[in-house]
Amino acid sequence: MTPASPVPRFGHGSRVSGWDDPVDLSKDPAVVPDLATTEVPEQLREEIERAMAKYPDRRSAVIPALHAAQALHGWCSPRAIVQVAAVMQLTPAYLTSVATFYDMFSTRPKPRHDVFVCTNISCSLRGADEFYDALVAASAQDPDLNIRSFECLGACDIAPMASVDGEYVGPLTPEDAPRIVADLRTGGPVLEHKQLRYRRCADPGVAAGAQEFAPPPPEVPRADTAGLPPGGDTVDRPGPSAPVELPAEEAEQEQEQ
Ligand code: FES
Repeated sequence: MTPASPVPRFGHGSRVSGWDDPVDLSKDPAVVPDLATTEVPEQLREEIERAMAKYPDRRSAVIPALHAAQALHGWCSPRAIVQVAAVMQLTPAYLTSVATFYDMFSTRPKPRHDVFVCTNISCSLRGADEFYDALVAASAQDPDLNIRSFECLGACDIAPMASVDGEYVGPLTPEDAPRIVADLRTGGPVLEHKQLRYRRCADPGVAAGAQEFAPPPPEVPRADTAGLPPGGDTVDRPGPSAPVELPAEEAEQEQEQ
């Protein structure tokens, strides 16, 4: 088994850039950019304002706001940071501190597509390293693809799995690698029949109530259980129901019956 590529590190050995750069005391104190004089794309402003409206403290929306800016600009560029700062009325320094802490944000130009393969222990035992190697080979060093191992993406129930531009897909096999690369190049949905969003849930009421989980296209086979045949499973069988927790007295009565 080939070990997964190491996590990329900057020259000083850190995973984040600039953490040990000395403070420049000659600089003016950070200022909050004025929204009236900062050009912010309408769509980005609306998305950030929607995120801020969900929380009592607007700083709670920093991560979705940075995600929106990164999606629009391709990376958390100084311009993107200033735009977010203007809408959120925060200093660019505050946003930069968040963007440099989380390695899903990039404060340097990066390839257009992010493919993170979880190579933590559970996914690794299910073949993540073989899939990772197959994906690297299939990408043929395409400069548009940012392929890296990741620990951990927290979706072992579809192990081995990957996040492709934020879309969770799995369980993956090395044969899926060329298809993922081809889907990214054509700009279509990636490995649609293995997307986590289409998996059934143990609680049938959850999927029905969640607006953002649209029903899968009819031709997409279900990939809700590891071990399905390669073509998937088009039969809509009900999944298992989670046990209902009863108060102790009721549970005893039920057992007696
Ligand atoms: S070990 Fe990370 S999702 Fe499986």
